[in-house]
Amino acid sequence: MKVLVIGGGAREHALCRSLSLDPDVTALHCAPGNAGIAEVAEVHQVDALDGRAVSDLAASLGADLVVVGPEAPLVAGVADALRERGFAVFGPSARAAELEGSKAFAKDVMAAAGVPTARAYVCTTPEEIDAALDAFGAPYVVKDDGLAAGKGVVVTGDLAAAREHALACGRVVIEEFLDGPEVSLFAVTDGETVVPLQPAQDFKRALDGDEGPNTGGMGAYSPLPWADPKLVDEVLRTVLQPTVDELRRRGTPFSGLLYAGLAITSRGVRVIEFNARFGDPETQVVLARLKTPLAGLLHAAATGTLASLPPLRWSDGAAVTVVVASHNYPGTPRTGDVIEGLADAAELDDAYVLHAGTAHDAEGRVVSAGGRVLSVTATGPDLATARTRAYEAVSRVRLSGSHHRTDIAARAAEAS
Ligand code: AMP
Ligand code: GLY
Repeated sequence: MKVLVIGGGAREHALCRSLSLDPDVTALHCAPGNAGIAEVAEVHQVDALDGRAVSDLAASLGADLVVVGPEAPLVAGVADALRERGFAVFGPSARAAELEGSKAFAKDVMAAAGVPTARAYVCTTPEEIDAALDAFGAPYVVKDDGLAAGKGVVVTGDLAAAREHALACGRVVIEEFLDGPEVSLFAVTDGETVVPLQPAQDFKRALDGDEGPNTGGMGAYSPLPWADPKLVDEVLRTVLQPTVDELRRRGTPFSGLLYAGLAITSRGVRVIEFNARFGDPETQVVLARLKTPLAGLLHAAATGTLASLPPLRWSDGAAVTVVVASHNYPGTPRTGDVIEGLADAAELDDAYVLHAGTAHDAEGRVVSAGGRVLSVTATGPDLATARTRAYEAVSRVRLSGSHHRTDIAARAAEAS
């Protein structure tokens, strides 16, 4: 099978790594890719938001499967353009991707499908904003309605800050605060059959102890030893299947990766958000544990044949990933710094460095090219071992001004 992956972050590097290990994959391409992906796939330059350009590339490569990684091309209709040209595509249509693209749309789907989520108001005027903030009280949860790369959400006890963010958003969702730990659960779906993956936990805040601003995600681990073993079945029954059924009922079936961001609250599981693609960095740890070859799974979703796929096989072990971020991330990141020590890190067993924002400079050196630069991933028989290996690999990599959290999976490893 010839596979083309669209995107160029650590998620796409993880996807390409797994696809490169799948014996059914005869050729692997990625566009635009990054410096790390170039080691496992042939990379191509393309405007990932241009459906026609992506389709032309897929045609020139004779791709049997196109996997669209990030949300922006999905929301821009790149999967639609590819499907119109007859390609098997892993990734939802633009209309189905509105589940991620518009928080207000997601709330509407959840209400219709009876999916448990935070109560919310969609506001457009200062009067509506004040009324909603007043109705829920602190802590305030204020979300920009559109795509914001995980950074459009403000959770604060400070009414003035909540109000300021809401007014800056235009259309804004203000909702009830959900207590309890967060879980990311992904499901592969062809629009009808839903196959859940193993749950993971992401660390959204920039600094240790969940301090500092929200980011795209600073690390992740799987499995979750503290979670109820029935969690996946419950979420499949109460969240994932009803959502997929509702979108099919509306005539906009969701085919691809449905990502449920969940809060395990004192009153039960609630959806915080949906995403229409693999999460980053959770994908790095979930795929590290998946034993079923990836291309067959994604192809089955793309061709509507998931129902006949055998059950997924998983490693009993654990995986941890630690994100190394640029100076100043999640503010405007400094880029162009040389990354050293990658070869030292590559010598470690059961640890590997996935690239997020990296590029080659004119002299062929690997340099930082984005906010999240590397996603250093390790596996082990348990979380404590995987965590130790991941941090050992992080310590071998040098990037001037970079920062990373030191507490990824720490509590879960201690408790297990
Ligand atoms: P989102 O982009 O919707 O995932 O929100 C980003 C982060 O904000 C989430 O991962 C949570 O940590 C936090 N958050 C979002 N909604 C809520 C909520 N209703 N209650 C508490 N925290 C929330
Ligand atoms: N890890 C959060 C996200 O992918 O949105």
